Amino acid sequence: MSSSRKPNIVVLGTGGTIAGHGASTVNTAAYACSVRPIEQILIEIPAIALIANVKTEQVLQMGSENFGSAQLLMLRKRIAALLQDDEVDGVVVTHGTDTLDETAYFLHLTLNSVKPVVIVGAMRPPTALSADGPLNLYNAMVLAASPESQAKGILVVANDEIHSARDVVKSSTFKLEAFASPYGPLGYVVEGRPSFYRLPARRHTVNSIWSGSEIHQLPEVGIVYAHGGVSPAAIAAMARSGVSAIIYAATGSGNVAADMVDALRQARAEGIHIVRASRTGSGIVMRNGAQPDDRYDWLAVDDQVPHKARILLMLALTRYTATRELQDVFQAY
Ligand code: SIN
Repeated sequence: MSSSRKPNIVVLGTGGTIAGHGASTVNTAAYACSVRPIEQILIEIPAIALIANVKTEQVLQMGSENFGSAQLLMLRKRIAALLQDDEVDGVVVTHGTDTLDETAYFLHLTLNSVKPVVIVGAMRPPTALSADGPLNLYNAMVLAASPESQAKGILVVANDEIHSARDVVKSSTFKLEAFASPYGPLGYVVEGRPSFYRLPARRHTVNSIWSGSEIHQLPEVGIVYAHGGVSPAAIAAMARSGVSAIIYAATGSGNVAADMVDALRQARAEGIHIVRASRTGSGIVMRNGAQPDDRYDWLAVDDQVPHKARILLMLALTRYTATRELQDVFQAY
């Protein structure tokens, strides 16, 4: 791209609060989601036309809680095709915030390009007082249009912060500072200028083993959430549902109650992979730490939260079946 022309950015609308509508300006919790078309959202932010040539596509219009493998694969296919086009300099995806971190991580692991791809949402609908969507989307366009964003993996921008798709997690039901990364943001966007201070260390996009491959289907992976008095019946039911793997969101550093150990070992004996994760929301679950994973032929999640470990494991299972290889994936990505 020559520095004299405005970059060409394609914005894919998928719905969410950023496309919402409330009956009054004080509706910040009770409002309709996924109703405003992406073209209209952009018209209401004229400053964007100064920084990029914009094309829009309404690829979905639904709450992100409804997203499953079909939506992830469709989005990946469409974005991959756009990134191959020499005329496209970057892509922005507007997305519901609920599962934005999962979609962003999936794209981070599977897109084969260094061009900027930015995922963005909002915590308040455009009709609300102090709506956050317009500035979030403007900042996403700034990032997608900036050569500085290249080769950093998929970026999530929210509340002025730039997060790596690998690390970011939605961590509040209503606050504007709803997105957090355990190691902090990569940087900030302030007054239309991105500033980066660190880089993602783990493999992504062009260095990911999935970026070059066709993926038509993802295996089923379930999550069981631990609590005091958790019943082993939850594991048995999940195993019967036909999953290839169960992520056990264990307590603390991956501790497993005694009667759950038996249920999880039984599921492993039936061929289902077992992954110890933690429900705490941050920190490492160390292999052979709280449980003898080698002896049980289980996996440990490293530092990933359960719902993002699920995305990684679904991809890992498209390539590998051996426990050792699957464990290596958790340490590399
Ligand atoms: C959604 O995730 O689609 C609804 C909630 C939101 O966008 O904040």
